[in-house]
Formats: sequence, structure tokens, C-alpha cells
Amino acid sequence: MTKICSVEKKIRSEGKDLILCDETRSELLPILRRVQDRKGYISDKDMQEIADRLGIHPVEVYSVVTFYSFLNYEKQGSTVIRVSNCISNLLAGSKKVLREFEKELKIKSGQTTKDKKITLKETSCIGMCDKAPAIMVNDKLVGNVTPKKVQQVIKGIRNGK
Ligand code: FES
Repeated sequence: MTKICSVEKKIRSEGKDLILCDETRSELLPILRRVQDRKGYISDKDMQEIADRLGIHPVEVYSVVTFYSFLNYEKQGSTVIRVSNCISNLLAGSKKVLREFEKELKIKSGQTTKDKKITLKETSCIGMCDKAPAIMVNDKLVGNVTPKKVQQVIKGIRNGK
């Protein structure tokens, strides 16, 4: 079993050795971050294992993973483009930017390109209302994105910039 808890305790139950997290559910988010950092997403199996080790119901883990748009429950492309859809970004035209990405990448929001390189997502706040429409390309913030700049962004990603 891989190490996911910062503090572990070993117990024996029904003839089996089990490693549990000696932490409370308040450690759930850091644990999820560790799993995601390690493999890029949190699978159903991971969620079950985390729930078992924390002694909580898997639905609790699932609800946290699906609530936060920065936690992934499916494999992602090596680059993730997140288009902000907060009200300021919507008013500034983020839907048009999103549609342009969908057209150019030939995928819908929430999908990954066939070559597994780019995932397109919508997200709420990325702290860039003042530069709306804004996007995140992995950890990099890009502001004032217009539909015309979309090709340039994609070209930059494909060229490793
Ligand atoms: S509320 Fe608009 S980016 Fe945060």
C-alpha cells in the first residue's frame, strides 16, 4: 500500500494488517492533494482507499473531489487549460473564448484531446476578474484572452512555451 497519510497507524483486523491514517477527516484535502500530485488524478480506487484509511464513507471523499474543480477524478492531459466562468469573466466574454478553444481543439469542455496532451475545463475563480476573460494554462495565469488569441495559446502549448 502506498503512503498517503502523513501519520499512519498499523492495526490488525480480521487476520489482516491494515494501515490507517492516524488523522481526522480534516486531513482529507492534504491527502487528496498528495495523491493528485503523485499521479495527476484521484481514481475511484484511490477514493475508496482514502475513505478506508480515514474511516469515513467513500461518498464524503467523492463529494470533496467533485466539488473542487482543481481536483481531478479522471486522467488529464499533460496541459490543462482552465477557462474562468465567474460572472466578471462571463460578462467579459469567457464563453466565446471557451467555444473557440472547443472549436480549435475539437473537444468539449471537460474533455481531453485524442493525443492526451490538452484537457479543457471551466472553473470558477482564478483571481483574475480584473483581466477577464482569463485562463490558466497549468499553473500559469493568462489574462485578457480573446477568441483571436486562442490559436496563439494553443500554438504556445504545442511548442512547449
Ligand atoms: S471571481 Fe472572477 S476570477 Fe475570481
